[in-house]
Amino acid sequence: MIVDDEHQVLKALDRTLRETGFEVTLYDDPLRAIENMDESHWDLIIADYRMPKLSGLEVLKAAKQNAPYAVRILMTGYADIDVIIKAVNEGSIYKYIAKPWDNQQFLSIVQESVDYKLKNDENRRLVSEIMAENSEWSGIAKSLEHKIMEMSEQGVQALLRTIRAKDEALYKHSLSVAWVSGRVGDSLGLKKADSQTLRLAALFHDIGKIAIRDRILLKTDKLDPDEREQMIHHPEVGAEILKEMDFMREVSEVVLQHHERHDGSGYPRGLSGGSIKTLARILSISDIYVALKEERSYKLSFSNDEAMTIIKNEAGKAVDEIIVERFYKAMSHVEIPSTLAELEERK
Ligand SMILES: [Fe+2]
Ligand SMILES: [Fe+2]
Repeated sequence: MIVDDEHQVLKALDRTLRETGFEVTLYDDPLRAIENMDESHWDLIIADYRMPKLSGLEVLKAAKQNAPYAVRILMTGYADIDVIIKAVNEGSIYKYIAKPWDNQQFLSIVQESVDYKLKNDENRRLVSEIMAENSEWSGIAKSLEHKIMEMSEQGVQALLRTIRAKDEALYKHSLSVAWVSGRVGDSLGLKKADSQTLRLAALFHDIGKIAIRDRILLKTDKLDPDEREQMIHHPEVGAEILKEMDFMREVSEVVLQHHERHDGSGYPRGLSGGSIKTLARILSISDIYVALKEERSYKLSFSNDEAMTIIKNEAGKAVDEIIVERFYKAMSHVEIPSTLAELEERK
């Protein structure tokens, strides 16, 4: 596109360009040129600076908006050097052509500008191709991730059914421990990934008990040494079961440690203090609390105050003081939901 109010100039430039094989459209009216800017795919817009209705700079500024991919060239006399400098610095023009012009020089500036435009077009095409490919791949990755999450959740539900089928009380115990440790975890401000690990570890902390015979698991009398030996292996058995699933690796570590005690008197490894995972410590105190609140064959359920007093006395023994303090804050004024339906809503 060439915009110039002088017909002589338009004619001369038109001839020069057509002879070299360019397609040219001429405008003697800058306003009409602006109107037609977005109608064609312009490669190059050349505008004369001095025109009565509108300066060439205004035309090229409009081109920057309306035909952003077209290369902009200003034609102007030497007297307008300040205008040229300003236009170049503002990024309004790519090149300028001095009037009066030399045909050879004019053609080489036009050719260079068109090459620049075509190179830019090619770059843009490549970038958009790469972007499209990326978004296609990220779409596939997203749906795969979604599928895996769905499958994981199905696995979680299947395991919960297994626990329930084995022992309804154990199922309720697991949901209660998940409910309590969820509250404590929230009050500690756990990161999302840690909360999720804690939730799964709490739901499945006693899954190892499905390997224990009912005769022992449901026994109301005191366990004999041999039976107790079987019972205390449940964290290891549970961890082994969970380890089979990649997404449960970390969960299985927490489950393995849920009977470790701060003072080192726990099992299976007799870990103490900081060597016990934080999530396992939260799980452990929640487990103790839920057990205290449950009615067992050998004891009645403790009231909230009684259970809290016992837990407080465990500071520095079963668990560290900080966790006990946080536990107290999170649980002192709430009751664990009593029905399975309520607990299941939040599992
Ligand atoms: Fe346990
Ligand atoms: Fe438990």
